[in-house]
Amino acid sequence: MAEVEFRDVTRRYPGGVVALNRLNLTVADGEFLILVGPSGCGKSTALRLLAGLDKPSSGEIRIGGTVVNNLAPGDRDIAMVFQNYALYPHMSVYRNLAYGLRQRRTPRAEVDRRVRETAALLEIDQLLDRKPGQLSGGQRQRVAMGRALVRKPQAFLLDEPLSNLDAKLRNQVRGDLKRLHRELPVTSIYVTHDQVEAMTLGDRLCVMAGGEVQQIGTTDDIYNRPANTFVAAFMGSPPMNLLPAEVRSGVLHVGDAVLTAVPSADGPVTVGVRPEHLRLHGSYAEGMVPARVDFVEPLGSHVLVTALVDVHDDDSATAPKEARVIIQAPAGTDFDSGTRIGLEMPQERTYFFDADTGDVRTSRERIAL
Ligand SMILES: Nc1ncnc2c1ncn2[C@@H]1O[C@H](COP(=O)(O)OP(=O)(O)OP(=O)(O)O)[C@@H](O)[C@H]1O
Ligand SMILES: [Mg+2]
Repeated sequence: MAEVEFRDVTRRYPGGVVALNRLNLTVADGEFLILVGPSGCGKSTALRLLAGLDKPSSGEIRIGGTVVNNLAPGDRDIAMVFQNYALYPHMSVYRNLAYGLRQRRTPRAEVDRRVRETAALLEIDQLLDRKPGQLSGGQRQRVAMGRALVRKPQAFLLDEPLSNLDAKLRNQVRGDLKRLHRELPVTSIYVTHDQVEAMTLGDRLCVMAGGEVQQIGTTDDIYNRPANTFVAAFMGSPPMNLLPAEVRSGVLHVGDAVLTAVPSADGPVTVGVRPEHLRLHGSYAEGMVPARVDFVEPLGSHVLVTALVDVHDDDSATAPKEARVIIQAPAGTDFDSGTRIGLEMPQERTYFFDADTGDVRTSRERIAL
């Protein structure tokens, strides 16, 4: 096991695509880190560089403190599981697990010991004589992970390994992965574009967009103290509501609504409130944002109300524009489309972002959760 480090790593492809721009990331020995971001943001590129399947244009990659930029993949002692893992269909589970070790001329008794140990860990020890075709999707997935782990790698890289499983199996294998990491704490990097998966799996997340790190932190940091509007809108389901607004003489204005005094400098801002923190009132009163119900979605435990709010266009203070917000309301809440409502934005739950850069303006450290 080892610490893994990216130092200022850039990967520029011929033709000019910058897949990764100055990535700085340290994954501690034994840590389980989630790399999350939308399609094309550079996640697989980062893993491929670490595994040695691709070379950085600049920067350093270290494993256990040693620069590995010029080491061949086989000399890096890294195991990788891809989305489309392929098992050898004609070989038993046992031989699939043993294959890599035999290739390395590991003594037979040692191979046997490691295969059985790994199979027990993954709870596939009853399946060693079966062929992949006789396994369920989740079992096959565990064999693929076993094949990578049986080598006892320095680091374990997983690139969207669950995306070809159905939702129920995904949950199950996710649980297996957590348990596995507790019992065998190999330094791991897990790639996903699914923010829910990222939140449930990881101790620490690295959120990426457009080849750049947006924020690195715990689930709590990312959810409660997003660094910018990208992170705020990407993490959470439904995501944080973001509205163009303006602070005038220390008072917040959304459209024509005059709200409260706020701890943010004067000028245009983007305000953010999560659906579960917006308070919905059946009638409008001063200090609220007036809104109009668009539609209501009952989800059993709660109801999502989608409403429209008048805001001012960024470019012109006079041109009105509508913005959509989602409010999480108690089960049983119901409104006809078009009903006028009032929205309260609790100040301690409202985020202020720079209208131009999207970077957070005020620290949310004081939110005690
Ligand atoms: N061989 C290549 N040549 C040129 N551009 C490439 C190459 N491989 C990847 N890219 C580009 O680099 C960027 C990052 O790709 P990457 O595969 O790392 O994304 P990703 O975050 O893994 O996305 P996904 O979630 O879709 O798998 C993308 O814009 C992609 O089009
Ligand atoms: Mg990818």
